[in-house]
Amino acid sequence: MRTHKILRTQAFRIVAIYLAIFALSAFALVGFVYWNTARVLDRETDATIQAEVTGLVEQYQRLPFYTFTDVIIGRSVRGDEGLYLLANNNHRVIAGNLDSWPQISPAENGLVEFSYQRRIGATTQLRRARGQVFMLAQGFYLLVARDVDERRQLESVFQTALLWGTGLMILIGLAGGFLISRRVLARLDVINRTSGQIIRGDLSQRVPEGHRGDEFDDLAHNLNRMLDRIERLLRGIREVSDNVAHDLRSPLNRLRNRLELAAMRQPPDSETGRDIDAAVQETDRLIGTFNSLLLIAEAEAGSVRETMHEISLTDVIEGVGELYCPLAEERGQHFSVTISPGGAVIRGNRNLISQALANLVDNAIKYTPAGGNVSVALENSGGQAVLTVKDDGPGIPAADRERVIQRFVRLESSRNSPGTGLGLSLVAAVASLHEGRLSFGDNHPGLWATLSFRRVGDEPRMARVSTQELLPQPEPVG
Ligand SMILES: Nc1ncnc2c1ncn2[C@@H]1O[C@H](COP(=O)(O)OP(=O)(O)OP(=O)(O)O)[C@@H](O)[C@H]1O
Ligand SMILES: [Mg+2]
Repeated sequence: MRTHKILRTQAFRIVAIYLAIFALSAFALVGFVYWNTARVLDRETDATIQAEVTGLVEQYQRLPFYTFTDVIIGRSVRGDEGLYLLANNNHRVIAGNLDSWPQISPAENGLVEFSYQRRIGATTQLRRARGQVFMLAQGFYLLVARDVDERRQLESVFQTALLWGTGLMILIGLAGGFLISRRVLARLDVINRTSGQIIRGDLSQRVPEGHRGDEFDDLAHNLNRMLDRIERLLRGIREVSDNVAHDLRSPLNRLRNRLELAAMRQPPDSETGRDIDAAVQETDRLIGTFNSLLLIAEAEAGSVRETMHEISLTDVIEGVGELYCPLAEERGQHFSVTISPGGAVIRGNRNLISQALANLVDNAIKYTPAGGNVSVALENSGGQAVLTVKDDGPGIPAADRERVIQRFVRLESSRNSPGTGLGLSLVAAVASLHEGRLSFGDNHPGLWATLSFRRVGDEPRMARVSTQELLPQPEPVG
C-alpha cells in the first residue's frame, strides 16, 4: 500500500488533527505547571530575601559598623543559599561570600539578578542568584541575595521534558495514525475493489464480510444485501424483457410472413399490394428496433464478457468496409478505409464491435449528402487501438454530443431520414462494455467519431484495403 495514499486517508487526517490538539493541550498543561511552580519558588525566595534585608537593615542601624561587618561575615560562612557582599563605593569587597561585585541586571519588584562563581571542592560552578542592593551611609554598598540556580535547573528539566515529550508523542502518534489508516484503507480497498468489479458488470461479486461486528462489517453486510436486491430486480427485469422478446418477436415474424404471403397474392401493381409492402417494411423496422434494444441491453448487462476473445480490428474494419462501400457508392459518396500498418488486436466481442462500427459508418453515410466523403480508419495511438469514422455532412453540434448517445434521441435536423435513435446508444454501450471510449468532434465540416480500445498486441499483418470492388451488405441494427 502506497504511503502517500495512506497519508491522504480521512483516518490519518483525523489522527493528525487529534494529535495536534493533544500535543497543544499537553504543551499548555506542562507550561502551566512550570509557570506555577516557578512562581511559588520565586515568591518564596523573594520573601526570604525580604526577611533577611529587614533584619540586616535593623542591625545596621543598631550596631557599630565593625560589628555589622562581623554580622555579615557570620552569615556568609553559614554555607546555605544566602549570599552577602559588603563593598565600598568602588565596589571593593569588605566582607561577604562573593569574590567580587557581580554584573547585576534588574529584575521585577526592585530586585536584581546576577551570575556568580561558586566553588564546590576543586571545581567552580557558574550559578544564578537573585537579591537586593542597598546603599549604606559613607558610600558603602550591601548586596543581599539567594542562590536560585535550582529554579534554573527546574526550568531546564521542564524544557527537556517538553521537547522530548512532545517529540516522542508526535512520533508515536504519527506511527499509530499510519498503522490505523493502513488498516482502515485495507478494509476500504476490499470494498472499492468489489465495487469496481460490479461497475464493470459483474453483479455477482460480493464484499467479504468479517465476524468482528464492527462498522466495516455492517457496511459490507448492508452493501451485500443491497446488491442482492439489485441483482434480484435486474434478473426480474431481464426475465421480463427476455420473455417480451420471445413472445413478441415470434408473432411479429409471423405477421411479417403473413403480410408477405398476402402481398404475393395481390395482382402486380395493385394499391393493396403496395400498402401491404409498406406494412412489411414497417414490421421490419419494428423487428429491427426490437433487436437493437435487446442488443443494447445485452451489452449493458455485461453478460457477454465471458465470450470475449482476442480479435483483430483489421478483420472487423475490413468486414464493415466491405458491407458499406456499395451503399456509399450508391449515394455517390467517396468511401475509403485506411488501416495502420500492423493493425491492432483487442479483447472483445467481435459481433458487438462490428455492429458498433457499422452503426457509426451507417450514420456517416446516412447523414452525409450525395457526393460527400466518408472515411474509416484504424490507427494505433500508445496502447490504444483507435477506430475513426469521418464524414463531411452536417455534423453534430457540440452541445448535442452527449445527448445523442441516449436511447431514441434523434436530432431535429435528421427527422427526415429513417432511423430510431438507437444506433449510437449501442455504440456507447459496446464502448463501455469493452472499457473503451466513444468520442465525437468537429471534422470542419462534418463529424468525426472515434472508438478506442486497449490493445493487447500487434498484428504481424500489414494492410491497406481498397474498397472499390467489395460485396453488398445487410441492414445495420439500430
Ligand atoms: N454522422 C452524423 N452526422 C450528423 N448527425 C449525426 C451523425 N451521426 C449521428 N447523428 C445524429 O445523432 C442522432 C442519433 O444517431 P443514432 O445513430 O443513435 O440514431 P439514428 O441514426 O437516428 O437511428 P438508428 O441508428 O437507430 O437507425 C441522429 O438522429 C442524428 O441526428
Ligand atoms: Mg444511426
